[in-house]
Amino acid sequence: MLRSKIGGLGFYVPEKVVTNHDLTRVMDTSDEWIQERTGIVERRYAKKHEESTSTMGAKAAAIAIERAGITPQDVDFIIFATLSPDYYFPGSGVLMQRIMGLNGIGALDIRNQCSGFVYGLSIADQFVKTGMYKNVLLVGSEFHSAGLDFSTRGRNVTVIFGDGAGAVVVQPTEEDGKGILSTHLHADGEYAEKLAYINPGCHGGAHLDAEKYGYPDQEFGGAFLTKKMWEDEDYYPNMEGQAVFKMAVQKFPEVIMEALTANNLSPSDIDLLVPHQANLRISQFVQKRMGLSDDQVWNNIQKYGNTTAASVPIALCEAWEAGKVNSGDLVCLAAFGSGFTWGSALIRW
Ligand code: UT7
Repeated sequence: MLRSKIGGLGFYVPEKVVTNHDLTRVMDTSDEWIQERTGIVERRYAKKHEESTSTMGAKAAAIAIERAGITPQDVDFIIFATLSPDYYFPGSGVLMQRIMGLNGIGALDIRNQCSGFVYGLSIADQFVKTGMYKNVLLVGSEFHSAGLDFSTRGRNVTVIFGDGAGAVVVQPTEEDGKGILSTHLHADGEYAEKLAYINPGCHGGAHLDAEKYGYPDQEFGGAFLTKKMWEDEDYYPNMEGQAVFKMAVQKFPEVIMEALTANNLSPSDIDLLVPHQANLRISQFVQKRMGLSDDQVWNNIQKYGNTTAASVPIALCEAWEAGKVNSGDLVCLAAFGSGFTWGSALIRW
């Protein structure tokens, strides 16, 4: 049976390192609080006006393409996952396409936040195993630092996130038993506002609190960014951290077990679990709950923070570069985040 595999992978993180101590200069926080609650020591920030979500994506993509043993012209479809796009529209996929000179092929942006990469891998998998495409370029890239609230008000969100990009090329394989074994995707919109960046948007938060959001303030237009939102600086992401945490530690093990059960495997069969780097405490909880050893789980949030759609491909690529992903290994990818959306992918490398 034709399956798809990850044929090449690459990642890019900006040069600028921002430590927890650096953040204490602009908001009321501490290195101790951040490390204790999240495990994060530092993160990277992209250069404003020089770098963007699409330029970082292009850098990661170039490495993935080379390692896949193809040229950029061999890529026949682009999937781009981000929650921090260059523009409101068009998506960053076409902008990266232009940078890379891949004009003409299809480009699809997906907005599934922390599980964007796992969703994207599932989409790429369907295209490749049905024979429609041979080289799907899948990129996850985030420029969080451009849209965070650096005042104390935003500290619970801001200290967690970092910038960066990861990319893979998904290709067909006929090697017996190898490739992407399955993907499982889930979502529950009931929790949409638990972790959300609501304004500016066309809804203007009307169903949440019309008074607060000042919507509608005029008969035509005015819902994207009202004067009141501007005055209240109501244009940052919000998170109910504990609600997200509680659901994450439930859904991660569930969706990993779903993948294993579907393939008649058990946690002890996993050679490497690469979880979305949401919070080191979440990964540790999942590891313990599933009875996995330190050697079976890859974490790098300490260095990069939470890079949302980029976190799984960055972590996977780093693990691969470190020699932790070898032919025949069973690799499990899992993610949970805003939406809520969550998913897993099981790969025989
Ligand atoms: O990747 C997408 C999914 N996202 C996640 O998985 C995130 C899941 N949630 C979390 O990781 C945690 O909820 C956080 C790390 C975000 C927050 O940790 P927490 O233990 O849930 O803290 P909290 O929000 O309940 O706040 C506890 C206290 C509060 O102070 P009071 O009210 O007890 O006086 C906060 O104001 O900690 C305060 N606080 C901070 N203090 C110093 C919140 N953020 C900070 C901060 N520095 N950065």
